Amino acid sequence: MTELTPEQLYRPGLEDVPACKSSISFVDGVAGILDYRGYRVEDLCELSTFEEISYLLVYGKLPTKSQLDQFESKLKSSRKLSPEIIATLKSLPKNTHPMTMLQAMIPVVGAQVEVHNLKDNEKNISDIINIIAKIPTIITYFDRYRKGLNFIEPNNDLTHAANFLFMINGEMPNKEIAKLFDVCLILHAEQTLNASTFSTRVTASTLNNAYTSVSAGVGTLYGPLHGGANEQVLKMLEKIGTVENVRAYVEERIAKKEKIMGVGHRVYTTKDPRAVVLQDLAANLFRSETGNKSLLNIAMELEKIVFEKMSAKGIYPNVDFYSGLVYNKMHIATDLFTPVFAVARSAGWLAHWYEQINDNRLFRPEQIYTGVRGLKYTPIEKRS
Ligand code: COA
Repeated sequence: MTELTPEQLYRPGLEDVPACKSSISFVDGVAGILDYRGYRVEDLCELSTFEEISYLLVYGKLPTKSQLDQFESKLKSSRKLSPEIIATLKSLPKNTHPMTMLQAMIPVVGAQVEVHNLKDNEKNISDIINIIAKIPTIITYFDRYRKGLNFIEPNNDLTHAANFLFMINGEMPNKEIAKLFDVCLILHAEQTLNASTFSTRVTASTLNNAYTSVSAGVGTLYGPLHGGANEQVLKMLEKIGTVENVRAYVEERIAKKEKIMGVGHRVYTTKDPRAVVLQDLAANLFRSETGNKSLLNIAMELEKIVFEKMSAKGIYPNVDFYSGLVYNKMHIATDLFTPVFAVARSAGWLAHWYEQINDNRLFRPEQIYTGVRGLKYTPIEKRS
């Protein structure tokens, strides 16, 4: 068998290249299927909770009632931030983007935990719980700090999802909204080896702790080609303004070869199954809104025209197409959409971190050198 040359092996963006083995999630991009640990995401949205999904992703199996009770109670008791963490948070400029803030704050949380051997899985699990529990508090505290509002302490009578909405808005969310937000968290919790999960695993592979590894994931999620897309989608829909403007907008973007945010996916060549679930949820939330200025109507028209013009290329709405609309209706600030994604994805990142450190091989790919070689050094005074 002849060996492939580096040029033959090379796939820009590692497209279609397996980079690890994992039993956490499965995607069939052609059929539009997403499974977490063997369970269909649609079933989990209907029947489960974000807390249970976090357990499932990390431990690999659904919990018993007592295991879940214990897990939930540990999450609740880890929600609060210490005075030192709050002081660090308040030292940041108020106009810091919340994703930059979050990326900086997670290692600060880690700095308060005693350094331990990564072979100690009891302590590893306690780090996992600490991070999942504290991310919502960090985000909501920062949001209220920058708005000059008092912090709202975590409420341990509320679920992870309801507590986030309570801490951000200062009002008890109704059951329907809390369930809807819980479903959003479940939908965003995990998605195989996406860019931020890969980044988390690469960082983990140098045997880094959970805090540093998740911080790397947050940084990667921030970009507009990944988690940052949900923020851009809402801005785009607001800019389009009316249903009548949609066609011209799409045609102009295509003509200029510019991306339309919230559509297209590296893996899905059909409609993202998460977008299907979110579209229904958004439709429920927007029941009372009608007319050509309704953001949902603009989004649905955009989807129709994108389908008409781009489905032949396998380009359909992705999860971010509808999530911004839903968060907007929940009075979550637009620049918190990507941090909300991180609230959910922390569970997936940490499941991958745990899997990686327990069966580690350092990531160290090759490159194809395209520069020059053999140059002779010219002293600075002789350079023209
Ligand atoms: N709008 C317009 N055209 C798009 C597009 C989009 N959102 N996504 C892909 N395309 C087109 C590209 O222009 C390209 O066309 P060409 O072959 O004529 O040059 C082709 O589809 C392949 O695009 P490419 O960007 O190389 O594919 P990818 O696998 O790298 O794309 C994304 C994946 C997610 C980066 C891309 O679809 C994108 O940028 N989407 C918008 C951002 C977004 O919503 N991200 C969230 C992902 S969950």
